[in-house]
Amino acid sequence: MTASFASHVPARGGVVAGDCLDVLRSMPAERVDLIVTSPPYADQRASTYGGVTADDYVAWFLPRAEQMRRVLKPGGSLVVNIKEKVVDGERHTYVLELIIALRRQGWLWTEEYVWHKRNCFPGKWPNRFRDAWERCLHFTREKRFKMNQDNAFGKNIANWQGRDRAYPTNVLHLATECGNKGHSAAFPQALPRWFIELFTDPGDTVLDPFAGSGTTLAAALALGRHAIGVELAPPYVTRARDAVASARAAAQALAIASSRTGQDLVSIDRDPATAATVSKDSVPS
Ligand SMILES: C[S@@+](CC[C@H](N)C(=O)[O-])C[C@H]1O[C@@H](n2cnc3c(N)ncnc32)[C@H](O)[C@@H]1O
Repeated sequence: MTASFASHVPARGGVVAGDCLDVLRSMPAERVDLIVTSPPYADQRASTYGGVTADDYVAWFLPRAEQMRRVLKPGGSLVVNIKEKVVDGERHTYVLELIIALRRQGWLWTEEYVWHKRNCFPGKWPNRFRDAWERCLHFTREKRFKMNQDNAFGKNIANWQGRDRAYPTNVLHLATECGNKGHSAAFPQALPRWFIELFTDPGDTVLDPFAGSGTTLAAALALGRHAIGVELAPPYVTRARDAVASARAAAQALAIASSRTGQDLVSIDRDPATAATVSKDSVPS
């Protein structure tokens, strides 16, 4: 039997075990402010958590996206971290087809951010170089949506001559994390953090329908947002729940320290080691 949202998600959020198609169907409409997710890539790691073939990917994703659109508030955003795989020596077009299909479903393809992996996997291939970037597709329901641009103003631009602060570009330079998250496809926490700070306010609700090890959920809780995750594979459900418990405990400890010291210790800064940096070349003129 599939878990339902109402019976498994406490008021401030949590992790529901099950297929996000079923779980999201049981969620009330317009419940969340932001969805940040990295869906299973076509055919990848089939042995770990089930693969969808590249040719079937759009048909598989669309009913889930329909539910994401239903549970998202009108001014909310959907960020999909994805990268098309190579099939028979060429890049498959399923991500491009997915973008077109999502637009037909009613989504606006508002922007595409690029995650530049500063420490991408070493290697050599006969017909291409090391793959150092992934897409972060930004979809919205409406042209006017919540975007706190000033939250991204002036981050990590210390090496820009003659300029102290500027707005960043749509390229995020982040290292992958190979820590002990217990998930083979975890993204760095700085990635969801970037979008959570940009597209939500404290107290808003963030959803990750493919929660994996719970990276998005931990980032949301650390930033004072509510977090809801859905995960199909039981071992990752446990991982994600552990991540939520740790993040919640850390946030509570900070809140207690804040009230004792009278200082706002909850709104923590990014870890400089993993923070999104902005290249010198991207300074607006
Ligand atoms: C690319 S991983 C997400 C990794 C995550 N961003 C992290 O940092 O750990 C995709 C996850 O989606 C889960 N998954 C696959 N199909 C699913 C479905 N129908 N509903 C919910 N979760 C699903 C997989 O088990 C996997 O953990």
